[in-house]
Amino acid sequence: MHKTPRDIIAKKAAGEKISVITAYDYSLATLCDKAGVDILLVGDSAGMVVLGYENTIPVTMTNMQMFTEAVSRARVNALVVGDLPFMSYQANLSDAIKNSGKLIKAGADAVKLEGGIEMADTVEAIVETGIPVMGHIGLQPQTTMLSEGYRVQGKTAETAIQLIESAKALEEAGVFSIALEMVTSEVAKIISDSISVPTIGIGSGKGCDGQVLVIHDMLGLYDKIEPKFVKKYLSLSGDITKALESYRKDVESGQFPGDEHSFSMEKSELDKLREELG
Ligand code: KIV
Repeated sequence: MHKTPRDIIAKKAAGEKISVITAYDYSLATLCDKAGVDILLVGDSAGMVVLGYENTIPVTMTNMQMFTEAVSRARVNALVVGDLPFMSYQANLSDAIKNSGKLIKAGADAVKLEGGIEMADTVEAIVETGIPVMGHIGLQPQTTMLSEGYRVQGKTAETAIQLIESAKALEEAGVFSIALEMVTSEVAKIISDSISVPTIGIGSGKGCDGQVLVIHDMLGLYDKIEPKFVKKYLSLSGDITKALESYRKDVESGQFPGDEHSFSMEKSELDKLREELG
């Protein structure tokens, strides 16, 4: 049986940290699951790292359903969380519930949506249908990006209080965890200490109950933006480019394919063929 939102909350209660990684496709999701990561987050960051958009705004429900299906087919142990894309939940509660249901039908165990206190009613309505929700405050790429770009959140006492109030409102509305994106470490720690559900930080310091990274960032597969908070565990883009150059050169020089990569006919069949062809 795979992990459930209840298991994730229990980890915080037991003082254990929670590991989260984004995943969008079957092959990498299989490796993430095998590595024992707690949560596979099918993030709308797929819009940038997989689909090549400038930001997450163009991502559609159809995109997210396809990524969620692929990841859920790979998962054995982890919890799968599907991200609700821009404008799939903001217009009204009916959209929010229907689109959450679509991600659950695609294989997610829970959904994530961006927004603080202003989204509490939406969270409550989705949770009431039985669908677990992860909140997301701090930098909210779907909307903060439109107004102010990438900026650290919670640098002033006033914005810190707004973040703390949002976290409490989301907890009250029934979220099972909250992603904190680019929130100052001090505020992230205060939030983590003042709510019972886990906080999952990205660029929000050690005080969070868990951490999430975008898989393409930590494997060094996406170099377009290199945020300070990313720890690169590999630099795959260089290695992959080198491998592809070797392949191209092998094809051009006739080194590939070798006999070991090819299939042959029986000699008798080949002789028959030659005879028939004259
Ligand atoms: O879309 C995403 O990958 C996210 C995480 C960075 C939290 O929302």
